[in-house]
Amino acid sequence: MSTAAVRNRHFDDLFATPDLRWLGQNTNHVPAHPDVLRAMARSIVEEEFHAYAPPLGFEALRRGIVEDLGLAPGSAEALVTEGGVSALALLVKAHCRPGSRFVTTDPTWKWPCIFARQAGAEVVEIPIFDPAVGYRLTADRLAAEVDERTSVIYLVDPNNPLGVSYSRAEIEAFAAIARSVGALLIQDATYRDFAAEPYPVLAAMPEGAVMTVSFSKWLGLAGMRIGGLVAAPGLIADLAGLSHAALGASVVAQRGAMAGLAVKHEWMAKVRALDDANKAAIHARVQETPGLSIPVYPSHGNFLVIETHAAGIRPESLAEVYRRRKIMIRHGAYHTQRFGDRFVKVSTSVPAEWVREFCDLLPAMVEEARSLNAPPEMF
Ligand SMILES: Cc1ncc(COP(=O)(O)O)c(C=O)c1O
Repeated sequence: MSTAAVRNRHFDDLFATPDLRWLGQNTNHVPAHPDVLRAMARSIVEEEFHAYAPPLGFEALRRGIVEDLGLAPGSAEALVTEGGVSALALLVKAHCRPGSRFVTTDPTWKWPCIFARQAGAEVVEIPIFDPAVGYRLTADRLAAEVDERTSVIYLVDPNNPLGVSYSRAEIEAFAAIARSVGALLIQDATYRDFAAEPYPVLAAMPEGAVMTVSFSKWLGLAGMRIGGLVAAPGLIADLAGLSHAALGASVVAQRGAMAGLAVKHEWMAKVRALDDANKAAIHARVQETPGLSIPVYPSHGNFLVIETHAAGIRPESLAEVYRRRKIMIRHGAYHTQRFGDRFVKVSTSVPAEWVREFCDLLPAMVEEARSLNAPPEMF
């Protein structure tokens, strides 16, 4: 069987597992806001899905996305895509080619790197899994790695998996570096709604920067596939000409996204309170467990990295023994080859009961993982 087929089976099996605890993909499993459910249900009942949506997205949603980022009206526009991943694929398609360089961190989110390599670009990953740099990219390191061949700087902010979030001063410094070499600065803002003080790169760099956004994590619409990118109007016009989503994104998902923006304040207060409490519960349990530690706390994403190497266990083994208990967590190698043997990642925007189960099992799972030397292939 091909790797793609094996991988597909793996996720199909997970989906078919009754009561699976999804603690591995940073998805949001808080029961949906009734207004969001109603908006999507109404769209289906009224059979809106017979028609294609406008190619760049419903105008009300495009405006809503820009307003939500707090950007000056008219300074930026949104292009709605089938998830943030499609926005990133479009940006790579527009800006990466043989001879160009795509500079990011390690760890980072792997898919844009894969797209960039497919486009023939060289991918440069600056290591940040290091307490000496506070687990974050510094302007000095970035400046040392970029040159005129650099067409894209891809900053996952907050970083998935580490959960660090960048300050205004840091973003301004990265923007100056991007400008100095003429690179597009992409701020992947998928997790910004879980950060204490997210700073939009477009405030520092209205031209030559792009933000990608998602409705998967804060609103819980991962399976609906809805996200977008936000940039200056001229850049949006250029990108629209290259978009493969010429027939628009899901009508039903866009209805849900608009309803979500309308209740965002109230909704996120609830999600954040749950997420914070789940993080605190995991943190406390990890501190009681010999050999485990959390390098970045609190994380500014809806997840926590747990370092496992001092416990002498393989991340894949821990993920596998949890999987056997119907709890999905992520092994580090999903994110990074270089640091992947050091950690697992656990998502926290989930029911408190799921996190309680994870915590109760933790000491036993560490012991069980110790004796599992050949875990199956993980994705
Ligand atoms: C950093 C980052 N960017 C983008 C995405 C993709 O989000 P979407 O579901 O909107 O395609 C993810 C999903 O895990 C992510 O972690």
